[in-house]
This record gives sequence, C-alpha cells and structure tokens, in this order.
Amino acid sequence: MSIKLGVNIDHVATLRQARGDVEPDPAGAARICRSAGADIIVAHLRRDRRHIQEADLFELRKLFKRGLHLELAAVPEMIAIGIKARPDSVCIVPESPDEVTTQGGLDFKRLDASALRKSVERLRKAGIGVSLFVDPDASSVRAAKGFGADAVEICTARYAKAAGKHLQQLELEQICLASYLAEELNLELHAGHDLDYGNVAPVAQIPHMSCLNIGFSIIARSVFTGLKAAVSEMKRLIISAR
Ligand code: PXP
Repeated sequence: MSIKLGVNIDHVATLRQARGDVEPDPAGAARICRSAGADIIVAHLRRDRRHIQEADLFELRKLFKRGLHLELAAVPEMIAIGIKARPDSVCIVPESPDEVTTQGGLDFKRLDASALRKSVERLRKAGIGVSLFVDPDASSVRAAKGFGADAVEICTARYAKAAGKHLQQLELEQICLASYLAEELNLELHAGHDLDYGNVAPVAQIPHMSCLNIGFSIIARSVFTGLKAAVSEMKRLIISAR
C-alpha cells in the first residue's frame, strides 16, 4: 500500500498572523508543498483563529481540486464552516483555548458524544471523509468506529516525545497495536503529531499506514533549507521507509 504525506501549513499562517500582514502566504506555501511531493494539504481552523483564517480555506479549495484536509473541533459552528469550505476530508480533533498545540487524541470518556456524533453525520452527509484523532489505544480506536468515522488518525506525540530508545519502542508498539485494530475494523489509518525527520521511518513502516500528517518539523526545517527541500526530504524518508 502506498503512503501519502499530508503537510500541515498552519505555522506559515502563524508567522503571517504575527505581523497581521499578508506574508508569508499559506496558499503560496501549499503550492510549493504540493510541487515538492505533498499529497495532501492540511490546515487546522482553530476557534481562536490563531493561525489559519476562514478565507485561507476557500483560497486553498480554489487552488487544489484534490487533497485538502482540515482539522476541526466538534463544534457546530466549526463544522458548518468546514462543510462550506468543501474539503476532501476532515479530522475531528480536541481543542482547548490555552493549549499551544493539540494535546492528544479525543477523550471519549469526557467529550460531548452527541456533538461528536452530529459532527460526523453532518460531514459524512456532505460527502466529506471523516477521521477522528485518537490516542494509540484499543478503546479509542473502537470508539472511533462506533462514532461512524471512515478513518482514525493515531496521535504519535507520546512516541515522539518518549525519553530514550526503550520507552520509544514501547510507544511504537502501542501505535502498532492500535493500527492493527484499525485495520481489522476497516478504518483507514493515518498518523501524526510531532513526527520529524529522525522519528518518522518506523511509523511509515507500519503496514496499512496510508497517510502521515506532518507540520511543525517541516516548516521549522524550511527556515534553513527552503520549503521545497524540506518537503521533498520528508517525502523521500517516508517512501524509502516502506
Ligand atoms: N495531526 C493532527 C490531528 C494535528 O492536530 C497536528 C497539529 O496541528 C498534526 C497532525 C501535525 O502535528 P505537527 O505540527 O507536530 O507535525
């Protein structure tokens, strides 16, 4: 099975918002990412609009006929905007106002189940593929299936941040187990968060992994190498890991 690279361009927008100006332009960055081998462009419209703005979504949709993926909270207002922007797929993520970035997968024990169910239904009815961002554990993967998702995106943050090779290997095993269950449940399998040039290969090697969504490490490297080189190196790493 081939594996896709989704590049998250939020941090290009973060830089633009720092000056409240028009540069650097996320849509221009997305164009370069695609020409360098990104299969999918990922953007997270947060409720606080700290980086991506609504207008960016419409601009991106105009630019690309395929491969636009949004991250959204399961909140009616955000889902309505998502549907208007007509992405190919949406990943529903937990979101809290004071976090620096998404803190992990959906907490199925605490979340508003009715809001999540309605969000999944509305998106699917609009013909938009739905993934749920989940921690690498069996109950979360099963819950995602129960909510009617087409895919799970497994959170790789704990793996990426694990201190030392032994702990990292244990975290990788959790991701592998969750991945096998996703496959058994017929869920498309994605992964992402904190993946970088040094830790991506073992995750790319997981059978049935169909897409890795990566943002920060690529945009950070692009400051030194340019965006084209940063994206094509990541693409090379994930393809050659197979
Ligand atoms: N996947 C999801 C669901 C995310 O929320 C994020 C961060 O926006 C990413 C992937 C990308 O994470 P990173 O920027 O750490 O590569």
